[in-house]
Parts: sequence; structure tokens; C-alpha cells
Amino acid sequence: MSLGRNILLWCSRNEWLKNRFPKMKFTRRAVKKFMPGETWEDAISATRKLLENNIPTTFTHLGENITTLEEAEENTKHYIVLLDKINNENLDIEISLKLTQIGFDLSFDKTFELFSQIADKTKSCNNFVFIDIEDSSYVDKTIEFYKKIKKNYDNVGLCLQSYLYRTMKDIEQMMDINPTIRLVKGAYKEPETVAFKSKKQVDENFFKLSSFLINKIKDKNWRAAFATHDMNMVKLIEDEGARLGIDKSNLEFHMLYGIKSSEQLKLAADGYGVRVLISYGESWFPWYMRRLAERPANVSFVLKNLLSR
Ligand code: FDA
Repeated sequence: MSLGRNILLWCSRNEWLKNRFPKMKFTRRAVKKFMPGETWEDAISATRKLLENNIPTTFTHLGENITTLEEAEENTKHYIVLLDKINNENLDIEISLKLTQIGFDLSFDKTFELFSQIADKTKSCNNFVFIDIEDSSYVDKTIEFYKKIKKNYDNVGLCLQSYLYRTMKDIEQMMDINPTIRLVKGAYKEPETVAFKSKKQVDENFFKLSSFLINKIKDKNWRAAFATHDMNMVKLIEDEGARLGIDKSNLEFHMLYGIKSSEQLKLAADGYGVRVLISYGESWFPWYMRRLAERPANVSFVLKNLLSR
């Protein structure tokens, strides 16, 4: 892992920076590249533009590792009101959240109760909710949580990471519950004991897992999403889909707002499923640091904003 990436991931967990950095004007300008604004209205305006090109979205209200159950309840309410709003406006917007946003560090059972409220509302709105995957210390209990919630709700998906050695086994152990998987490479700093270190290995595993999922789309009618901006990987997935005779619209690519925007348009115009994840909210610091760490060249963009006053 490069020094730059290590430093940025360290920053993402630093409380002192978290409290100061977001107040600086130049960072607020720079973050606009990845986030249309701090409110859901901003995210909805951005969605309307994307929908003109057949690109629906997924919303994430930023915030993670909260420390009280009151905050967990507030965050739950936020998603429930948001789901009503999406439904009333008749927009194709799914939601995605971190379990630590609704109390996972505090209580499994309370988180289950709160997530069930969200899943209930999601179901009544005929919508879909994804569970984000956090660092490797959460993976066991997130999978346990997913298996349990999936018994009650069909409209729930789980994100999994190709940088972890364990992911193929995890998917195989979920075969009987017909999971919906959103596959990503992984955004956290992980030790060599649990995660591949080289990009080549992470990419190879991403493709191996993707091939497995594409076969399940074909044989079992699973829904799976390939969440990557790696256009070489996208091409490999397209080819594998074509080889197995999968309809382009059943290959879903998920990308982040502001990254590879022109490729998103091309894929959608070509008939592939494309969904863009839009994050919004005031607590964007750790999330933003992870985005910078994914491509340390982004730091130069932040610096340009510092210099251009
Ligand atoms: P890779 O890192 O190989 O990048 C390929 C190319 O994409 C780069 O060369 C660059 O051109 C471009 N690119 C990638 N990241 C960029 C950035 N930040 N800024 C500018 N350009 C960039 N992770 C996680 O651990 N848990 C989760 O729940 C999620 N959820 C999630 C949802 C969705 C919809 C996406 C797209 C991603 C996530 N992630 C995530 C993040 C994921 O793990 C990963 O860190 C990023 O997607 C970057 O990896 P890529 O697959 O894009 O490839």
C-alpha cells in the first residue's frame, strides 16, 4: 500500500481532522466533485439529470460509527422519511447504508430492529436497500446480520469486497438465501492476514467473483451489481456476460457520483444497467478521505482548490 494511501486512510479515522477539515472553504469546494451537496434535495436534483440519460441512483446519507442510540434512531428516521419522499416523487432511487450508522457498534439487536423498520418501509415502497460493507472487523457480524434480515425481507442486498481472501467462501455460504451482492474492491486499510496486498491480486479476485456472480445471474436469476470504475474490469465483465448470453440490461454497473461520468453515460447508452451512488450529508470527512485514498492524484485537485481563491 502506498505511503500516500496510508496517510489518507489514517486521516479518515482522525477525530481532530474530522472536526476541522470540513469547515474549511477550499475543502467544501473540492468535495463538490464527488458530492452534489449536503442535502437530499441536492442529491435529488443530480438524480433528475442522470435519469435523463437512463441512469438511476442510490442514496447514502453520510455518517458512520455513531455513539448513541438516539443518533441511530435519528438516522433510521431520516431513511424512512427519505423513502417516502422518493416514493412520492416516483423516482428510481435505491438506498444504501452502513450498519454502524444505525447502532451496530452499540447493539446488534437494536440495529436489527431499526434496520427492519427501514426494510419494511423499503418493501412497502417497492424499493431496495443495500447494506454497505465496512472494515474487516465487521464482516462476520454483517454477514450474520444479512442472513438473518434476508429471512424476512427479499429487498435487501449486501456489499462485499474482492480484496478479502474470504469473500468467495462468504458468497458460497449464502447460496441458499439467494443473496443480492454488490461487489467492490474494498476501501479500508487492511492487514495482509486478511486481504490481498497487490492491485493485481485484488483485480483477479474481483473478476473471479464477478464470473461466479454472472453465472448465478444466468442460472438462478440472482441480482448482482459490479461496483467499479475500472474500465478494464468492466470490459471483462461485459465479455463474460456476452459469452454466457446474458442480456446487457441484466449486467448492472454501479459507480460513484462524479467518477468516470462519461463512461457511465456510454454504458447506459449501450444498454447496460448503470446506477450511480450519490452520497450527501454533513458528515462527509471519513468518506471523502477514502475517496482521495483510492486515487491520491485527487489530492492535487484539493490543492488546486486551496490555491484558487
Ligand atoms: P480502481 O481503484 O482500480 O480504480 C480504477 C480507476 O477508476 C482508477 O484508475 C481511476 O481512474 C478511477 N477511480 C477509482 N476511484 C477513484 C476516485 N476515488 N476518484 C477518481 N477516480 C477514481 N467500498 C467498501 O469497502 N465498502 C462499500 O460498501 C463500498 N461501496 C461502494 C459502492 C459503490 C457503488 C462503489 C462504486 C464503490 C464502493 N466502495 C465501497 C469503494 C470500493 O471499494 C473502491 O474503493 C472504489 O470503487 C475504487 O475501486 P475501483 O473498483 O473503482 O477500481
